[in-house]
Amino acid sequence: MTVSAVIAIDGPAAAGKGTLARRLAEYYGFAYLDTGLLYRAVGRRLLDRGDDPGHVEAATEAARSLAPEALENPALRNDETASAASQVAVIPQVREALLQFQQRFAASPPGDAPGAVIDGRDIGTVVCPGTPYKLFVTASIEERAERRLKELRERGIESIHGRVLQEMKDRDARDSQRDIAPLAKSEDALLIDTTEMDPEKVFSVALDHLSTQGLAPPQSRP
Ligand code: DC
Repeated sequence: MTVSAVIAIDGPAAAGKGTLARRLAEYYGFAYLDTGLLYRAVGRRLLDRGDDPGHVEAATEAARSLAPEALENPALRNDETASAASQVAVIPQVREALLQFQQRFAASPPGDAPGAVIDGRDIGTVVCPGTPYKLFVTASIEERAERRLKELRERGIESIHGRVLQEMKDRDARDSQRDIAPLAKSEDALLIDTTEMDPEKVFSVALDHLSTQGLAPPQSRP
């Protein structure tokens, strides 16, 4: 039986994980899973129902019954949902339900892909600790707030720098200080600080590392 190769990418919000993950998935022909979307979909469901994102039973039920279509909702991208996601993410039962979803994706990526790129906060530490292909992508908080602000403006959403920065700090604190599966760099992950790097450079640093770790380029795989 061939075992699917998994590239685990962790890091805080707006550090460049998603851009890197998509490029790697395309390059290697792997399936891509943005695990933040899972937590966002659970948070969104609670908001839409008028429930508090901290409501354990409601959040657990939403995580257990998560339908793949729920990941397509454009409202998952907004900051209200991001904040709700970070609140449901502290609930152990929610993490347990979503862990199974993620591990199934890693073990048998959709579309018969030979591997998966999975990004989030705890992929290298909890979801796929056994993979040798781990990256931890970060950037300064100022740079991340700046990128987030730019992204919001490009989508026509006017936002205030101080507010975006504060929201990012709150989310970082909640994500890194929670008891279960906090945002953390796995010891064996390569740290990539993207503060001063363009996406091209980040991609090439990641490729170098993955090849050093023994991940063959796509053309040489049978
Ligand atoms: O990556 P993102 O901004 O879409 O994630 C939204 C929230 O979901 C994040 O603040 C914390 C939570 N999350 C998590 O706890 N574990 C993951 N693997 C991914 C996201």
